[in-house]
Amino acid sequence: MISKIKRILLKKNKSKIICLTSYSKNFASIVDKYSDIILVGDSLGSVLYNYNSTRHVTLKNMIDHSKSVRMGVSKSLMVVDMPYKSYSNKSEALKNAKKIIKYTKCDAVKLEGGQKIKNIVKHLIKNKVSVMGHLGILPQSMVGKFKSKGKTEKEKNTLIKDSKILESLGVFAIVLECVNSNTAKKITNSIKIPTIGIGSSFHCDGQILVTDDLLGLNETKIKFVKKFINIRKNIEQGIKKFKFEVINKKYPSKKYSY
Ligand code: KIV
Repeated sequence: MISKIKRILLKKNKSKIICLTSYSKNFASIVDKYSDIILVGDSLGSVLYNYNSTRHVTLKNMIDHSKSVRMGVSKSLMVVDMPYKSYSNKSEALKNAKKIIKYTKCDAVKLEGGQKIKNIVKHLIKNKVSVMGHLGILPQSMVGKFKSKGKTEKEKNTLIKDSKILESLGVFAIVLECVNSNTAKKITNSIKIPTIGIGSSFHCDGQILVTDDLLGLNETKIKFVKKFINIRKNIEQGIKKFKFEVINKKYPSKKYSY
């Protein structure tokens, strides 16, 4: 039988790869029907916990949410973000990746960086941990103002070099976050593994968004976020109806009572 990772690799140059985040079972069970990859992203730090940086997300946060997500995933490849400071050196990285895999039964982990984390990625892959890369804006290392990457010749060359390094180590796909369109195109055409863009143009082999953002559940003004629906309105309607019926003694009627 063809593995989930192989299926993702085979999509390169054929059809776009759909990747979305989930932080819990109910969301995952819906997202699973339409995506190739489900990421339990450390973006949960800002989306669910209001942290001002993903640096506050702990290994326990990631494991707890991923255990819930696992229950909703059946067909997609499940990837879990390794949180900040959980891969500071080779042995820590392997110990923590194994812990994530053991408790969440995920298929792969995602780490941020290129050349700088080369030896860590190499060690994980040597020990049979499947790894997804992440280049461009790296939220775990971000200091100061939000600025897209790969505009200058120097940044472009570094990104291409980093992509090739990750590919040579055996990473199966790379997320490109807020990378200049031409640079994203160049990277996508220079490597055999898929690129998954977020704010990095249609040139990428696939796209990822935070599900709460595209649904309008999480209120954000980031340029690359398109609100495909505003489910806050639907949620409000349901809650208003509940309140109305409780106040007017319509709910619970006999049908809903013992
Ligand atoms: O944490 C996350 O959700 C991510 C994606 C947005 C790429 O890393």
